[in-house]
Amino acid sequence: MANFRLGFIGAGFLAKFQAKAMHQIRGVDLAGVHALKGAEELAEVARQNGLGDCKVYGSILELCKNVDAVAIFAPNFARVQIMQAITDAVAQGAALQGIICEKPLGRTVAEAQQLVDLAKQCGTPTAYFENQIHMKGIRAQREQLAPQQAAMGPLALARSAEEHAGPHEGWFWDPTRQGGGVLSDMGCHSIACGWFVLTPLGKPLTFLEPVSVTAVTSLLKWGLPKFRKQLLDRMGVDYSKTPAEDFCTGMVTFKNPETGQLSQAQFTNSWMYDKQGLRLTMDGLGPGYAFELNSLKSPLEIFIGDEAAESAADAETALEKSTATRGLLAVEPNEADLYGYVDEIEDAVACFKQGKNGYLNFEYGLEVTKLCQAAYMSAERGQAIDLTDPAIQTELKSYTSLIAQGRGGEVLYR
Ligand SMILES: NC(=O)c1ccc[n+]([C@@H]2O[C@H](COP(=O)([O-])OP(=O)(O)OC[C@H]3O[C@@H](n4cnc5c(N)ncnc54)[C@H](O)[C@@H]3O)[C@@H](O)[C@H]2O)c1
Repeated sequence: MANFRLGFIGAGFLAKFQAKAMHQIRGVDLAGVHALKGAEELAEVARQNGLGDCKVYGSILELCKNVDAVAIFAPNFARVQIMQAITDAVAQGAALQGIICEKPLGRTVAEAQQLVDLAKQCGTPTAYFENQIHMKGIRAQREQLAPQQAAMGPLALARSAEEHAGPHEGWFWDPTRQGGGVLSDMGCHSIACGWFVLTPLGKPLTFLEPVSVTAVTSLLKWGLPKFRKQLLDRMGVDYSKTPAEDFCTGMVTFKNPETGQLSQAQFTNSWMYDKQGLRLTMDGLGPGYAFELNSLKSPLEIFIGDEAAESAADAETALEKSTATRGLLAVEPNEADLYGYVDEIEDAVACFKQGKNGYLNFEYGLEVTKLCQAAYMSAERGQAIDLTDPAIQTELKSYTSLIAQGRGGEVLYR
């Protein structure tokens, strides 16, 4: 049987990571790529690594006509425009079996809704890429603790965090292009992960009903004059004019519609985690049982002393967003697998081949966007947001946070 042909839109940091994940998957080729920058380089890497005869396409239409499914791995500000081009390609005869979109589905609820509506127009199955829900560690704890859950009841508290020292490209830092700061960029991971972890086994992804959200957004490091200058020099973004939050924390409260039991998911995210590199921490507490995961607890450590530091290899081959090249360093030898990229691609391809949505579809991505935007609303107003209030639900449909409007100076603690 011929390999499934995947096409990438975007050839930057994330696309390269996903290509690494594809090395570990059988029966799928990286058949084509379209990007404003980096497409030739990624196609060459794909060909050299046996990922298939990857071709560079000058348009989304041409790419869509030559692959079985496409993945949107381009910046957040280009989502709607790219999804519109995919929809046009399908209308012009591209026989796509699936459309993938990276997190966040939209910078606002309205944008995420547009993606859902355009996908419906295409009539094509979708997959929303939230890798943390696919992490083997997260899946394994659910499996291992299934008997305890059956005997004692579901988890009541989940805590999820994703932190690192800051993103690699200027557009991430610019709230008007990215959709906010770290809450929009990484809060979406932690909110989704907490919701998933709390969901009783055997129940659908959105079984637990979100009741309320409280959140705080602050600018703790990158608003200080010294770091503002660094940001301006390195990324071309001026936080004296358009600041975004580099720290957020909050709580989503959920209700079990069958039992009425409340559970809570706490999220914490920062771009000011000046330690080894990317750290994911998740834990869950149930009655009489618990789990804890820390992605920096690797069985492999390396040490590079001052004398040997000059010969250090690229730090980012050891750990995503690594901040040091000497001392005692954690190395994660297979980050693409650890973070769930391998499993999310395998899931999407298997589902598309059967003509159905991935485990997480665009509608699910829209629900996560709603929670994330409600968190901005809470931080902005300094109050809990009642998600069961029809007036709030209506308001969220057209809400753009002040931070995303470039008015972060009015609301950020700094
Ligand atoms: N799951 C994760 O943990 C994770 C990690 C990083 C990024 N992401 C997400 O992946 C997406 C891409 O992020 P990245 O880090 O690769 O960004 P990046 O800036 O490194 O790369 C973006 C790529 O998209 C291309 N591009 C830009 N505009 C385009 C357009 N209109 N049409 C076609 N190509 C276009 C660029 O040329 C580049 O090749 C973002 O939405 C981001 O939120 C997810």
